[in-house]
Amino acid sequence: MATGKVHFTEEQSTNLATLYGRALDNRLPRPILGDPTAEETVRKIDYDFGKFKMKPDMALSVAMRAKVIDERVRAFLREHPDATVLHLGCGMDSRVYRIDPPRTLRWYDVDYPDVIDLRKQVYPEREGYQQIGSSVTELDWLERVPADGPALVVAEGLTMYLDPEGGRALLRALAARFPSGEMVFDVFGSLGIKLQKLNPVVRRAKATLSWGIDDAHELERLGLTLVEELDASYFAAEETVSLMSPAMRLQLKLALMIPLFRNMGRILRYRF
Ligand SMILES: C[S@@+](CC[C@H](N)C(=O)[O-])C[C@H]1O[C@@H](n2cnc3c(N)ncnc32)[C@H](O)[C@@H]1O
Repeated sequence: MATGKVHFTEEQSTNLATLYGRALDNRLPRPILGDPTAEETVRKIDYDFGKFKMKPDMALSVAMRAKVIDERVRAFLREHPDATVLHLGCGMDSRVYRIDPPRTLRWYDVDYPDVIDLRKQVYPEREGYQQIGSSVTELDWLERVPADGPALVVAEGLTMYLDPEGGRALLRALAARFPSGEMVFDVFGSLGIKLQKLNPVVRRAKATLSWGIDDAHELERLGLTLVEELDASYFAAEETVSLMSPAMRLQLKLALMIPLFRNMGRILRYRF
């Protein structure tokens, strides 16, 4: 089955670049993430993925970020098999299939209506799995999600696209709605926002990033407690470094020596 021609905004089309990155990773003899659904989905979507000119290094970093976040999701769900998962700015990510949670768990994928329309053509809903088409910062959608137990909020490649005020209101509302839970998401520091056009995915999609977070403790004011902060060194796992080009290896080595660059892109985990 092929989808109709895709017409996404610049911001939305970044999700096709990251999807393609995971598909390219899956073509490696020993993938980092290993997501066959990403490959199948790329084949089904009528879109010129070549326009992203995605280099193997970029695909590696997309796959590594997804893998690190998946590990946090799995760990939370082992402790809370009855949780509600909110996967915000899910794009075309097949995380729900990678994690494959029990049907008793409730998993919601949330993104703009156009993105959810495309998702529904390739990712069927099933018991315990629903997709919500809404801007995450228009908070009415939250009313559709039961708030009777622990929640896991996951957002990969989302926060930097939100306006800071809307992003903070979203996190505050999420923390207030559920009795307990965790949030795991990646952020850019303000330098990452300033240098956004150096990011090939953002540049080629002509997207704009707005929210930079330098101090992870700053978000604790919203009712969160910081439990983990991963800087760029999470890319330096041996399995990833061995697959990098020499130029990327050098870039990473230099980035790890300079705190400002080391902190440009991080993964944060909070409890609430
Ligand atoms: C870089 S893509 C990441 C997609 C996916 N998480 C992944 O890793 O492949 C950013 C996603 O955030 C979504 N997004 C950005 N702002 C949003 C908002 N206010 N409400 C809902 N989704 C949003 C975009 O539509 C896009 O799907």
